[in-house]
Order: sequence, then structure tokens, then C-alpha cells
Amino acid sequence: MLRTHYSSEITEELNGKRVKVAGWVQEVKDLGGIKFVWIRDREGIVQVTAPKKRVSQEIFKLIPKLNSEDVVAVEGIVNFTPKAKLGFEIIPEKFEIISRAQTPLPLDPTGKVKAELDTRLDNRFMDVRNPKVMAIFKIRSNVFRAVREFFYNEGFIEIHTPKIIATATEGGTELFPMRYFENDAFLAQSPQLYKQMMMATGLDKVFEIAPIFRAEEHNTTRHLNEAWSIDAEMAFIENEEEVMDLLEKLVVYTIKYVRENNEKELKILEFELEEPKQPFPKITYDKALEILADLGKEIPWGEDIDTEGEKLLGKYMKENEGVDLYFIYRYPSEAKPFYIMKYDDKPEICRAFDLEYRGIEISSGGQREHRHDILVEQIKEKGLNPESFEFYLKAFRYGMPPHGGFGLGAERLIMRMLDIGNIREVILFPRDRRRLVP
Ligand code: 4AD
Repeated sequence: MLRTHYSSEITEELNGKRVKVAGWVQEVKDLGGIKFVWIRDREGIVQVTAPKKRVSQEIFKLIPKLNSEDVVAVEGIVNFTPKAKLGFEIIPEKFEIISRAQTPLPLDPTGKVKAELDTRLDNRFMDVRNPKVMAIFKIRSNVFRAVREFFYNEGFIEIHTPKIIATATEGGTELFPMRYFENDAFLAQSPQLYKQMMMATGLDKVFEIAPIFRAEEHNTTRHLNEAWSIDAEMAFIENEEEVMDLLEKLVVYTIKYVRENNEKELKILEFELEEPKQPFPKITYDKALEILADLGKEIPWGEDIDTEGEKLLGKYMKENEGVDLYFIYRYPSEAKPFYIMKYDDKPEICRAFDLEYRGIEISSGGQREHRHDILVEQIKEKGLNPESFEFYLKAFRYGMPPHGGFGLGAERLIMRMLDIGNIREVILFPRDRRRLVP
């Protein structure tokens, strides 16, 4: 390997020892008789010090020729000294330019010179060199790690369902159509129908982490056309509140995991991630409407709570309950998809819930209707044709236990967790109305 140590691995025990470091040239300083190079790697920065008397002529002459962002590999002796900005330096014995960086750079990877988001996304490979941006993606990696760990700990089985499908799951709008040989197909908006079908297999508790595709008409700061969904489904439940409890546990586990394992990144982001207050309050849809009416925002019963309403509620919950995370549940049946179970004694209300994180929905879920004939009726009520759902309905005719689950948007979770305003910041190559490249 061209590298024996990352910058962060150079500790005092290595004083006087030989190491190989490699990375991108962040800065060069030429003071005549002594030259400095700061090299950035994934974990931080190392200083290479080249005093004329202690290094070869060749190295001494090479340093002034370096460009910012050249990739270099240096072999040298570690010297711990209070004179060095970082407490130590490396005196080079070998210095190699591995790959040249053109000038000018498309953006400043240190982030000191601010760039527009579009410029940053067009040059994402360089944008991620910025330690603040890199910190987000290191945290993102741990979010997925925590989620997997959580589900395995809870006895869930990871599944993978098709992303090329024949039927819309979350309604007919927002679909990306595609040609599938002689047939029309769509990109999956959600693993919904497939994860439910898995409930008829006896796997009982399943989860899937995969992209979902939504042809969102509008360019907003919270919608992507390709997002990552964390989906769970579990059988033999008695009510939707058991699913809400699971989701709460998952979110708390993930936030704690990031707090414990990304201290360095949170510091780089200058962000204090608070441990969530538990239990998450559960407010009914009716109560949410009441609160909003008191705040001067009237929403007709049956309609979804819009972005502005969500925001107002988020502020209200923070000020009055001191919470960032809370559930809204017992939604009107007309506002939710056909697969949600209605209350038998009050069919205008259903067993659906949303999880809100500082005024933005990060997850929705519920108890599903597992009774075949009622499900068929509900499909019809939504103006859909049960025949197009035959492959799905079949799974309900040969023994289907009661079940429920949720879909948690990974990007929504991460953006709220880190209080980031635009969802594009937390996905490497966002897909939106205008953005298909890179
Ligand atoms: O609320 P949605 O559409 O619900 C479903 O997909 C259901 N099948 C879930 C279930 O199990 N009942 O999407 C679930 C979550 C949203 O709360 C949001 O976090 C995320 O997926 N999401 C998006 N994230 C970014 N961009 C988009 N266009 C998103 N659409 C949904």
C-alpha cells in the first residue's frame, strides 16, 4: 500500500519512526530555506516539513511545483514537536506525485470559498473532499449500519424485492413508466405490496433497505426522485401502536448510535445531536387539526396536513412539549392508501400513522388490512381495479396473519437529524426534476 497510516493514526509512539502517508495537497508554504506541505486524507491533515538541510535536493525542488489537490505519497520520519501546528510533522525521505490536479479547480474543496449547491453537486467528487460534506456521508454510513444492526438485534430478516414492477403501489401519480420488452412497467415507488406478501410466508418480521422512485412534479427541499427507504413489516401484531413502538425504538437506536460513533463528525459539523425525548408523543389527526386551528390554520377534516401545517405543528410541539419527534395517528381513511386497516367501529378513521421530526414527515406506516374481502372493497373504494392487484390479493387467500409496518425515508431522517435544510445535501448524487447527471 502507498499508505501505512492515516493522519489520525499518527500518535506519539510513532515519534522517530518511518511512516507512509498519502492524500491530497491542501496547502504549500515556501519560506525559502524550509518548505511545508499539508496533506489531507480521509481522517484529517498531516504536515510535511522539508528543511533544506535535512531533505534531498530532489524533494526540495519538487515541493514548489505542487498544485493544490495533487495526489501525493510521502515516506518519512515522524517528528513530534510543539513547533508544528498539529503537534507533529513528517520529514520526507521520499516524495512522489501520483496524480496531478488541473488548475483552476471547479470549486474550493476546503469550503472556505463558498460555492452554489448546483456547482457543488456538479462536482460532487470534489465537494465530498470538504471535511464538512464528508462528515455527512460518514454519518449516513453509520445510519445504515445502525439500522441494520437494530433489525438484526430485533430478529428481523433482510429481504430484497423487485424495483421493476407492473402495478402502482402508492397511487398512480408520481410513477416512472418504463418499457419492459413488450410490456409497460414502472420503477417501484415502495416495496409495500411485496413486503406485505412476505407476511404470508411465515418470515414474520422483515426489513428492506432500498431505493424508491417517485416522479415528484415539484422541486422541493424535501423530495427526491430517487430516495432510500428503510422498510419494515411484521406479522401477528394486535394494533398499529406496536409498529409505532418499533419505529420509535429504531429511530432512538440510530440517533444514539450516531451520537456515540460520530463524535468527530458532529464536531466538524458543529452540531449538537440531542438524544430524543421518550416516549414520542402520539397525537391523533383530530388533535393535530385542533392545534392547527388554534394557531389560525384551518384544515378541512379528511385532508392531509400540508407542509405549512406540519411546520407549525413542529414548532408547537417543540415549544409546548419540548420534543422534536412525535407521531400523528388515527388518520381519516380517505387520506391514506387502500391497504391500511380501518377501525371496525369507526371506518372513517384508519390505523395509519406518520412520524414527524421537527415538522417534517420522516416515516409513514400502519396496520394493514389482512382480510381479503375487505381489502378488495378498499381497493375499489379508491377507484382502483382489484384485477391489477391479483398477484398481491392471492397472498391474502391462503392464510394471512394480521400485520403492519412502516417506510422510513433515510434522507429525511438524516436531514432532520443533522438539521440540514436541503435533502440534496445528504445523498451523494441527488435525482431531482432537473438533475440526472452526474
Ligand atoms: O409516506 P410514503 O409514501 O409511504 C410509503 O411508501 C408506504 N408504503 C410506507 C408504509 O410502509 N406504509 O413514504 C414513506 C417515507 C416518507 O415518510 C418519506 O420519509 C420517504 O418515504 N419519502 C421520500 N423521501 C424523499 N423523497 C421523496 N420523494 C419521498 N417519498 C417518500
